[in-house]
Amino acid sequence: MAQQEYKMLGDKLFTYKGMVFPADHGSCQLNADYIDSLEDFEIRDDDVFIVTFPKSGTVWTQRIITLLYEEDFPDKANETTFQQMPWLEFREKDVDYESRPSPRLFASHLHEHMVPKGLEEKGKIIYVMRNPKDVLVSYFHFANKMKNLESVESYDELLNKFFTGWMLGGCWFDHIRGWISNKEKYNILILTYEEMIKDLRSAVVKICEFVGKNLSDEAIDKVVERATFSNMKKDPKANYEFLPENMTDQPKGLFVRKGTVGDWKNSLTVAQSERFDKVYYDRMKDLHLEVNWDL
Ligand code: A3P
Repeated sequence: MAQQEYKMLGDKLFTYKGMVFPADHGSCQLNADYIDSLEDFEIRDDDVFIVTFPKSGTVWTQRIITLLYEEDFPDKANETTFQQMPWLEFREKDVDYESRPSPRLFASHLHEHMVPKGLEEKGKIIYVMRNPKDVLVSYFHFANKMKNLESVESYDELLNKFFTGWMLGGCWFDHIRGWISNKEKYNILILTYEEMIKDLRSAVVKICEFVGKNLSDEAIDKVVERATFSNMKKDPKANYEFLPENMTDQPKGLFVRKGTVGDWKNSLTVAQSERFDKVYYDRMKDLHLEVNWDL
């Protein structure tokens, strides 16, 4: 989906520059002009971004990063992860990003061609990707709880949307291709959800070293403990249960749901999985993605 123009997709989503956003974005200032303006958003050397396709482990990594920086912002200890590391594109009206104290932390689902150009010179990006079949299943549950997203009745329906990019974030294949094939342009750490599940401590250490934080082993242990699935699930500041009722009346488990690898095996039929594989291999065959997903 490589169109540039603004267009509604159904009555809940709009597409712009090949990405898909919710038309109802609450109190955020989100429109074509704002999205355009992000290209010139000024980046500082110590800015840190988490970038993902939706449902790839964003909130988890966002939590880890804010915990690594907790000592820098003692006055923000009571804020939610959303406030400590706000969304670049989902920016609340009247929230000033420009004068935020450094180091600034941001989250984003933007495709590579839409992020601030300054990121090619400054700042750090942590890009997390996940087995797309698990992304699909996670999105199925998410879309059916979010009022500003189109609900989906079946996995066949969602597969069609996944292949055309008619879902929040747009097309997974384009997102991955954009970031992976342009990774040399950025100071970027690429992680997978699966490696974070396999060894959370190693992933936390990698992020810590990448952003240049110097934390003791004990401090790292504390971050790991607070970022485990069970601890995040019961921490309302970390699990986004604070979303307002006009967005969802089922906040529990929206962003911290099951937290496993291979959940697609419980949800997709063999025929659906094979259909996915065919499209996946066709669209990814020339991309050197050094990941061994159990597709
Ligand atoms: P599932 O729906 O498969 O459980 P995002 O934040 O990008 O929307 O991603 C949400 C996915 O990350 C959900 O996957 C959620 O359960 C998982 N997740 C969130 N916190 C986690 C944690 N601490 N450990 C493992 N997975 C986590």
